[in-house]
Amino acid sequence: MKTMLNVALPKGRLGEKVYNMFEKAGFECPSIKENNRKLIFENEEVGVRYFWVKPSDVAIYVERGAADIGVAGKDILLEYSPEVYELLDLDIGKCRMAVAAKADFRDDKQRTLRVATKFTNIAQQHYLSKGRDIDIIHLNGSIEIAPILGLSDVIVDIVETGTTLKENNLEVKETIIPISARLISNKTSYKFKSELINKIVSEISAQMEAKND
Ligand code: PRP
Repeated sequence: MKTMLNVALPKGRLGEKVYNMFEKAGFECPSIKENNRKLIFENEEVGVRYFWVKPSDVAIYVERGAADIGVAGKDILLEYSPEVYELLDLDIGKCRMAVAAKADFRDDKQRTLRVATKFTNIAQQHYLSKGRDIDIIHLNGSIEIAPILGLSDVIVDIVETGTTLKENNLEVKETIIPISARLISNKTSYKFKSELINKIVSEISAQMEAKND
């Protein structure tokens, strides 16, 4: 039986872009474009099986070996530090992790800063490096509301176009780190399926170079 490569793709527009990169790299699976409810697709002939998973779950599938490889945002990798190999920066899904607040916010260093975020570890790390005392308020979404309602002083969140901040009268005060999508691999899979995985890495790198020329 042919060795199958299990690939976790982030559901959504980014995942579709990623699939196209894999397709061009010789791992096509045409049925994936026809059905929008199914979550698992395979092409036995080329030896690949794709699954659509929630973007923030990709690293879990890969870390535990349910997927051999996958594509996850650097934000998730920094926040959860999964035990995976980061093989390639795909240069897509680009955004930044930033501190944002109301335009008139002034940091009073005498007071503990209240920070609302989904990214507790990233926020903690950032303020620890500055020696700033903070109180983390962990939220699961719509973080932008927190400073408006006075729940927090600032937020630490992803900013892509900046539209969400603007529409909520917030602005970036500080960029923490640029973010992009990364190709990741399960550590054991990388040993046992290295030929297949390295083929993907080199094919996709070549595509990216061709695009940049
Ligand atoms: C993310 C992030 C911001 C928004 C930024 O939210 O949390 O709210 O995108 O994008 P923009 O700068 O282009 O406006 P997401 O859509 O992932 O939903 P969430 O509220 O669950 O975080």
